[in-house]
Amino acid sequence: MIAAIDSRAYWYLTRATGAVSLVLLTAVIVLGVLGALRFAAAPRWPRFAVDSLHRDLSLLAMAVLAVHIITSVLDSFAPIRLTDAVIPFVGLYRPLWLGLGALAFDLMIALVITSLIRRRLGYRSWRAIHWLAYASWPVAVLHGLGAGSDTKEAWMLALTVACVAAVAVACLARISRGETPEGLRAPAATLAVITPVALGVFTLAGPLQTGWARQAGTPTRLLANSASRVGGATVVARGRRAAARSQTVPAAGVARLRPFSARLDGTLKQSFAAGGTIVDLALRFRGGRSGRLRVRMAGAPIGGGGLSLTGSQVDLVADGYPYALGGAIQSLQGLQFIARVAGPAGSRMELNASLQIDNQTGAVTGTLVASG
Ligand code: HEM
Repeated sequence: MIAAIDSRAYWYLTRATGAVSLVLLTAVIVLGVLGALRFAAAPRWPRFAVDSLHRDLSLLAMAVLAVHIITSVLDSFAPIRLTDAVIPFVGLYRPLWLGLGALAFDLMIALVITSLIRRRLGYRSWRAIHWLAYASWPVAVLHGLGAGSDTKEAWMLALTVACVAAVAVACLARISRGETPEGLRAPAATLAVITPVALGVFTLAGPLQTGWARQAGTPTRLLANSASRVGGATVVARGRRAAARSQTVPAAGVARLRPFSARLDGTLKQSFAAGGTIVDLALRFRGGRSGRLRVRMAGAPIGGGGLSLTGSQVDLVADGYPYALGGAIQSLQGLQFIARVAGPAGSRMELNASLQIDNQTGAVTGTLVASG
């Protein structure tokens, strides 16, 4: 449970720092362009203020990005290695979209390092390399849209639209002020218009469509996990979001799981701590349907070997059904419990289980009736 809470905290941090990085990098690009236009925010504001703000914000952006990367690696939910942050397109988790993040990050490291040794490098070489900033930014935006869990949220869409618009306007202003070499003006203006349009079309056709998580390269095991984290006692926000989405946007073409009865067998593990007891049942079911049922219960031991339940999580995975169903125990009486589980496509079931436990070996047998 602790691992789940930690993973959730890292996940929130990855999302928050991703959004903050995007805003900071947008500000860095806009200030860079304003600096090139010799812009002063107010007559009394020295010109170098824009340049130093540009430099300081870029270092701040790198620091926030470092947190973004470290938390994404520490989040045990997704298999992301530290090397995935710098070597593009080799990861297991959404390789293309994470790879774009790594590519943008590599380009930014090059920009920062060459800026720190600018004097030694010479102005012309430094400037040529600095043009990479214009390439790294849309790559980072594409990464955020393709990899982010918040892409469908109105606030994230509004933030991304605002960032894209700010950079496009700044670039067009620079081009129109004649600060761009003559031969580059027309292609640069075309790119400044086409890039926002292309990002918009991509967002509509890709991340905003149902099933994007699967299409983006999320391992199937994780798709099932996120659905199974629904409604249980240790509900994880990711599961809740999956459930909320499933209620408003049912997965197209996925039939609901039908009622069934089956035999149960498996094992029970019990651990005791000062604060209470945790009972973990790992069961297989066979018969009307086959699959796996995992039941975790936390509570205080009561006389006669029973448990006064304080929390529970029930996960059901049926063979041949693409989603896991997750939920919690509603009532527990001796060795019988009733649980409610839910999953995407509006699947909801009541599970009625009756168990026999061999106290010597921890072996469990029983019956399961799953009704709609
Ligand atoms: C310039 C570099 C980068 C920028 C500007 C950036 C920005 C973003 C943004 C805006 C999001 C969307 C957040 C959301 O939907 O709430 C995101 C998601 C994500 N980024 Fe990055 N990122 C960068 C590089 C990286 C790198 C190198 C990695 C690590 C390999 C990484 C890992 C992730 C992950 C795992 C997500 C998905 C988090 C989720 O589940 O929502 N990013 N990033």
